[in-house]
Amino acid sequence: MTTTQVPAQPKIAPGKLFIDGKWVEAISGKRLETINPASEEVLTTVAEGDEADVDQAVKAARKALEDGPWSKMSARDRQKLLWKIGQLVADHAQELGTLETLDNGKPIFESTRIDMPFVAECFQYYAGWATKWHGETIPVPGNYFNYTLREPVGVVGAIVAWNFPLLLASWKIAPALAMGNTVVLKPAEQTPLSALRFAALCQEAGLPDGVLNVVTGFGPTAGAALVRHPEVDKIAFTGETATGRIIMREAAGTLKRVSLELGGKSPNIVLADADLDAAARGAINAIFYGKGEVCAAGSRLFVERSVHDQLLSKVLERSQSIQPGDPMNPKTRLGALVSKEQMAKVLSYIDIGKRSEAKLLTGGGRADIGTGKGFFVQPTIFDGVSPDNKIAQEEIFGPVLAALEFTDVEDAIKKANATVYGLAAAVWTRDVKKAHYVARRLKAGTVWVNMYNMMSTESPFGGYRQSGFGRELGAHALELYTQVKSVWVDLSP
Ligand code: NAI
Ligand code: MG
Repeated sequence: MTTTQVPAQPKIAPGKLFIDGKWVEAISGKRLETINPASEEVLTTVAEGDEADVDQAVKAARKALEDGPWSKMSARDRQKLLWKIGQLVADHAQELGTLETLDNGKPIFESTRIDMPFVAECFQYYAGWATKWHGETIPVPGNYFNYTLREPVGVVGAIVAWNFPLLLASWKIAPALAMGNTVVLKPAEQTPLSALRFAALCQEAGLPDGVLNVVTGFGPTAGAALVRHPEVDKIAFTGETATGRIIMREAAGTLKRVSLELGGKSPNIVLADADLDAAARGAINAIFYGKGEVCAAGSRLFVERSVHDQLLSKVLERSQSIQPGDPMNPKTRLGALVSKEQMAKVLSYIDIGKRSEAKLLTGGGRADIGTGKGFFVQPTIFDGVSPDNKIAQEEIFGPVLAALEFTDVEDAIKKANATVYGLAAAVWTRDVKKAHYVARRLKAGTVWVNMYNMMSTESPFGGYRQSGFGRELGAHALELYTQVKSVWVDLSP
């Protein structure tokens, strides 16, 4: 048997809040534990910030916005600073990725080779936009000079989920800073560690005090305080659809801008003429990548009746090679679910599936990687799921696939669109006309053709319907972090 080198685990210091460039305890003195879901051990504690700490952080962000060095910094200097932050993230990919894996349970391969390079790329991409997104001059009638300014929205509250902790934060922080805003970040309580280390790197890069603040804590306390705070101009949120509804309602009190990246139940459609081997590989990647704790996960596999048996047997065969393992092992491709609560939720959906008409093809329970510990769940596939089954309608957020059948393209489109969500979708076919036809008919913010889970910093990402609104990534995100001012000058003689 060959042994694989498992990287040593770093010592993790207790976390503090990062406010106005300083590391401080929560005013209440409270702390919260963060767990390694693969071992169930406490990794460390971090400060448990609440309303009082959020208020301090927002005041620091406001001060930095209005009269710190940040407010006078040229776009070109912001560009250089963001580029440097990206470089520091790339240089520390191993360290940041290790923190992410220990805190979240995702395979070290994913955190160091996919997430952290994506974070670095995000900062370097938006660095470029700092100098390239600006106003226009407009040919108005009369003897007037009219031009527009692109100004920052102000203080941005970023609230993110635990599935891609630093990546989701970077999608908000990078465009926000590029456009001259200041930020208060509230990481998920399950995964606060990478954000704290990242804040230190930003300071090392030379980011002025107060421009980025990190308040760790719980959603209903720290998160809600950020949403309600009158000095916060915008909330950028990634998380559950139900939380998105609360945030939108609460943000109404101060009419702050909101962008929401929420849940999904994304359909992955295989037409009979598809390359079935590629489609089977894609279906596996679609649901088991990131343990299925991915907002865009292809959790509903729709298969055309005539190829159903053939495709499902290929999917089943491939699924057997995917087994949960130690997330710190570079060869592991399926890690531990983020928390005991998340595991319980996923197992409860598996139970619903087992008690229904659906046929359990594989998996169906908790997994043990030989340690007797950790929140591991077997890769699970249900076939013959009816469209109105809860496991075909609700976001499970775990490694659980629901396979459904359809008769023709129209039937596939109708069934695929029959949830409240609309984050992503995919279609597999060799027919270019069908591919584009289906791509247009699907109600989703992203459609993949003959692929799944492809993302790039340059391309917009976001939801239709109850998967949210606002587009992150690409040039579209710049709209979320700027407001337009129209300036008139009388030039009449
Ligand atoms: P969540 O939506 O409650 O948490 C996401 C973030 O929002 C966290 O930082 C949390 O502290 C914060 N938050 C929670 N309540 C808040 C409030 N009232 N005001 C302001 N901020 C608040 O998601 P959670 O509880 O971590 O997971 C619950 C379920 O949501 C999971 O079981 C999973 O199925 C789903 N989920 C879906 C995600 C997606 O991207 N589609 C991401 C995370 C969770
Ligand atoms: Mg944790």
